[in-house]
Amino acid sequence: MSDLRELLRGIDVFFGDLPDFDPAGLPVDPQELFVEWLLAAHRGGVREPHAMTLSTIGSDGAPTARVLILKNVSAQGWQFAADADSRKGRELAAHPVASLTFYWSELARQVRVRGRVEAAEPGSSAADFLARSPGARAEALLGLQSTPLSDLAARDEAVRAAARRIEEDPGLVAPGWTLYTLRADSVEFWQGDRDRRHTRVNYVCTGTGWERGLLWP
Ligand SMILES: Cc1cc2nc3c(=O)[nH]c(=O)nc-3n(C[C@H](O)[C@H](O)[C@H](O)COP(=O)(O)O)c2cc1C
Repeated sequence: MSDLRELLRGIDVFFGDLPDFDPAGLPVDPQELFVEWLLAAHRGGVREPHAMTLSTIGSDGAPTARVLILKNVSAQGWQFAADADSRKGRELAAHPVASLTFYWSELARQVRVRGRVEAAEPGSSAADFLARSPGARAEALLGLQSTPLSDLAARDEAVRAAARRIEEDPGLVAPGWTLYTLRADSVEFWQGDRDRRHTRVNYVCTGTGWERGLLWP
């Protein structure tokens, strides 16, 4: 274990050619800055820059986090999709608040978004489902996410059966598939620095607009 501790301590962080982050003259709306950073991560060769950690609150008050794909950022907020019957879906139904965390290591940038979550109406959720690849639709059609699985052969057989159903009926939509929108009430941007002079800017929604300020790193 001490070897592992040494190995972890030796892994370099915040290295390479990191971007500048000048808090002067930032956009009024954090969405604009978020999209700018997301596109910079994409251009900068970050693999899956749209992968984010979604944290929700369970009935016991404890958080659970998992990685999801960001579907879009619209005027309404940050969108993702999941099965309403999954653990996260049930947690969001009971506590419609969440946080999203992005980390783009190549740029040493982190973004944290917190806010209320709303489920889209069925038409938008169905459109999102139908835009998925056939394989991803078959997986979502199983409708068993986060429930115990007896063995992997049962998974494979269920995926094959779901793929056959989709082939026979390409308009089939998984009943629980839901597009969610997180309406941000705060968004924090964190730019790492080799010399540990990290820069943090936090946007807070006032109800009529956004206030922003620096945070100690
Ligand atoms: C890169 C990546 C992307 C993922 N995208 C999604 C997604 O968009 N929607 C989803 O429901 N699960 C996605 N997952 C799976 C989730 O992380 C999670 O395992 C699953 O949704 C069950 O979570 P739950 O038990 O908390 O409901 C993704 C996992 C990874 C690693």
